[in-house]
Amino acid sequence: MERVEDIIAAHAGRADEPGGTLLPILHDVQAAFGHVGEDAIRAIAHGLNLSRAEVHGVVSFYHDFRAVPDPRPVLKLCRAEACQARGVEALVAALPQQAQDGGRVKIETVYCLGLCSVGPNAMVGDAVHARLDGPKLAALVEALA
Ligand code: FES
Repeated sequence: MERVEDIIAAHAGRADEPGGTLLPILHDVQAAFGHVGEDAIRAIAHGLNLSRAEVHGVVSFYHDFRAVPDPRPVLKLCRAEACQARGVEALVAALPQQAQDGGRVKIETVYCLGLCSVGPNAMVGDAVHARLDGPKLAALVEALA
């Protein structure tokens, strides 16, 4: 899909879904364009008969939505209790400083990927990487950079 209006139209008639169509539309816009910019917020607000402030409030509440494009690839690293107990913080500390700073790869913290018994875990796109150790995490980051 190329236009925000097309994404909104694709969700027409699903307003009775729990939670409505705003979040699914925002996810699709984020996936299509890499961010949810002001033009998209304006179009979504118009399309759903919401105020821009209402749409902006949802976009800014969920950190998965970005207001501006971020070209860096994302590695989602679980830092919840089980992965902490399995040493995730030591793995992060052992990464090269540039990787820790997020210069070329954005390392996002997530809290539980549902695979606690095989942590530490990370996710790149839809792929889960389990049983991370220092070299595996460094290789993941390097492969994305
Ligand atoms: S705590 Fe890391 S996957 Fe559950």
